[in-house]
Amino acid sequence: MTLTQQRIMIVGGSNGMGLAAAQRLARANAEVAIVGRSQAKLDTALATIDGSANAYVADFTDTASLAALVEQVGSIDHLVLVASSNTALGPFSTTSAEALRGMLENKLLGYWQTLQATLPHLRRDGSVVMVTGAASRTAVSGMAGLAAVNGAITQLAQTLAKELAPLRVNVVSPGLVDTPVYDQMPAEVKARMFANAAKSLPVGRIGTVDDIAMAIEFLIANGHTTGALIDVDGGARMAG
Ligand SMILES: NC(=O)c1ccc[n+]([C@@H]2O[C@H](COP(=O)([O-])OP(=O)(O)OC[C@H]3O[C@@H](n4cnc5c(N)ncnc54)[C@H](OP(=O)(O)O)[C@@H]3O)[C@@H](O)[C@H]2O)c1
Repeated sequence: MTLTQQRIMIVGGSNGMGLAAAQRLARANAEVAIVGRSQAKLDTALATIDGSANAYVADFTDTASLAALVEQVGSIDHLVLVASSNTALGPFSTTSAEALRGMLENKLLGYWQTLQATLPHLRRDGSVVMVTGAASRTAVSGMAGLAAVNGAITQLAQTLAKELAPLRVNVVSPGLVDTPVYDQMPAEVKARMFANAAKSLPVGRIGTVDDIAMAIEFLIANGHTTGALIDVDGGARMAG
């Protein structure tokens, strides 16, 4: 399927993997609409996209904000859900229910209510890509919160691929990827964490944002793929 003039909304498109997807899809002549909470981040992101792109401020935890967003953007062919914040990370015994609730609000429920709001504007045989995470694909101590939330999204996508057909619904599951989310870590700590992770992976390196963007593009463009999950994790499921 050609992506030329396909209208693609990327919620979480102002940073990291979402921005890389926007850049790649715009290069393939799609018309991208990137969404995030910060106008400043969106402005910086827009300047890096070569092609047709617009930016919209919205918070996907807020239904009024989503209603305004879908009115502004209008009809779309494809939706990419990649945003998240408030990660519930750490040992099970010390990760509070409040922390998990925060991550549920800022990922699972965000995806849920964005798709609900978008559905009347989404082409019936278009597609949705949801980004999850490798913590839900293998057992990693200290990542129960990530496993629970991303695992729920994976199962949700499967059911929606059937219930909402001919709309296609697919998942990309990244492993560790160098994105601005790690920028607040001290440089030395971040470098050590990335180097240790790279050593543990069959491919010998951690992911780049474009590794993930490539998979997102494939799932949008391949009209015969639905209910599928692509692990783009360097083999994290076999590591250790
Ligand atoms: N990075 C990794 O190592 C890794 C590994 C596995 C899975 N993942 C998953 O991959 C996805 C992308 O990660 P990333 O590292 O690329 O993230 P990122 O760099 O932190 O970017 C997150 C994007 O989501 C937007 N966003 C956050 N909360 C939002 C909200 N409530 N409403 C609207 N937009 C919101 C952010 O913009 P604003 O802040 O301006 O709103 C930004 O554009 C996430 O779902 C993450 O859980 C990441």
